[in-house]
Amino acid sequence: MIRTLYGRLAVVLMAVFITIGALMILASQKMIETQRLIELATDLIIGTVAFSLVAALIVFRLLTVRLRVLSEAIEAFRAGGFSTPVRLARDGRADDEIQKLSTAFEEMSERIVTQLAQLSQVDQQRRELLANVSHDLRTPLASMQGYLEMLLLKAEEMTPEDRNRYLQVATRHCERLGKLVQDLFDLTKLEAREVQPRLESFPLSELAQDVVQKFALAANKRGLALLATSGPGCPPVSADIGMIERVLENLIENAMRYTPAGGEISVDVQAAGERVELTVRDTGQGIDTSQVQGVFDRYYRVERTESDNGSNVGLGLAISRRIVQLHGGEIRVRSALGKGTAFTIDLARG
Ligand SMILES: Nc1ncnc2c1ncn2[C@@H]1O[C@H](COP(=O)(O)OP(=O)(O)OP(=O)(O)O)[C@@H](O)[C@H]1O
Ligand SMILES: [Mg+2]
Repeated sequence: MIRTLYGRLAVVLMAVFITIGALMILASQKMIETQRLIELATDLIIGTVAFSLVAALIVFRLLTVRLRVLSEAIEAFRAGGFSTPVRLARDGRADDEIQKLSTAFEEMSERIVTQLAQLSQVDQQRRELLANVSHDLRTPLASMQGYLEMLLLKAEEMTPEDRNRYLQVATRHCERLGKLVQDLFDLTKLEAREVQPRLESFPLSELAQDVVQKFALAANKRGLALLATSGPGCPPVSADIGMIERVLENLIENAMRYTPAGGEISVDVQAAGERVELTVRDTGQGIDTSQVQGVFDRYYRVERTESDNGSNVGLGLAISRRIVQLHGGEIRVRSALGKGTAFTIDLARG
């Protein structure tokens, strides 16, 4: 079975030459009769020309029909705004240059469509980010300006306590602004993959113990029980210790913020096949089923609670998810309203 165009052309030409050869042999047998020879030579020339013409036409048609289909597909792809990848009908038997060109073009069009979709998604995210950032910056800035102007105008008439209170509020807004800008900066860098985790092998259960220790006092003050547990023979993980500490801090902070006094928060580390899983579980207010998946989105915040002092901006879980993804893991949440929430991350064994 001849598959390439060159091969097919060669077969056609060979057929032409074999025919010419056969006719020549016939002619040589009749050499004696000169008149017959002239007639035969004329027939031979006419036959050869006609045969070559038909053969050339067949080859030419074979080539152009499929090339025309390809060029029409390219034109349709362009006219359609590069939105749908090209799909060409496949001739199962053909495996020639045109078939290869068609396959290459199909692959190229698919890549163009995906990359254009990615670009427009990034563009959309950028626009949303800009709108969110300007909104989030405006609120604390306006409050800060209000309090500071009041201080400037009425400082003389104010009692030292009032002045202090005004200054404290302005400082709180200033801190919120600082945190927002820093978190945004970090998230943007994480999303652009400008920072990569510096992997090292360390025991996750020890890190969990350390972070729990750091929050012990604050948990105690709020009347919460905070404890770290781990399964027997838990293997170390391979991860960026600083980044994972940040994830843990955010998960524990959240659990503490949304769990009323008397509640319990546990940080548990367990081996799970080739991975190691860490779960932060609380007995707090929980998250409504309709909202639970949204918590990983930037700026997503379930409605404010009394324990919410306005300093959190809703970027913590977006940053945490990005960090876990950069480690090749995932972050999952399970929650029951009024019962509690559990966030689980998984990391590779170290
Ligand atoms: N353990 C939890 N229990 C109940 N709700 C939670 C819990 N963890 C997160 N949430 C909800 O998910 C939202 C998003 O959390 P995230 O950590 O991203 O932001 P934040 O804590 O509000 O702000 P930030 O972490 O940026 O200071 C929270 O505002 C809260 O509504
Ligand atoms: Mg948080």
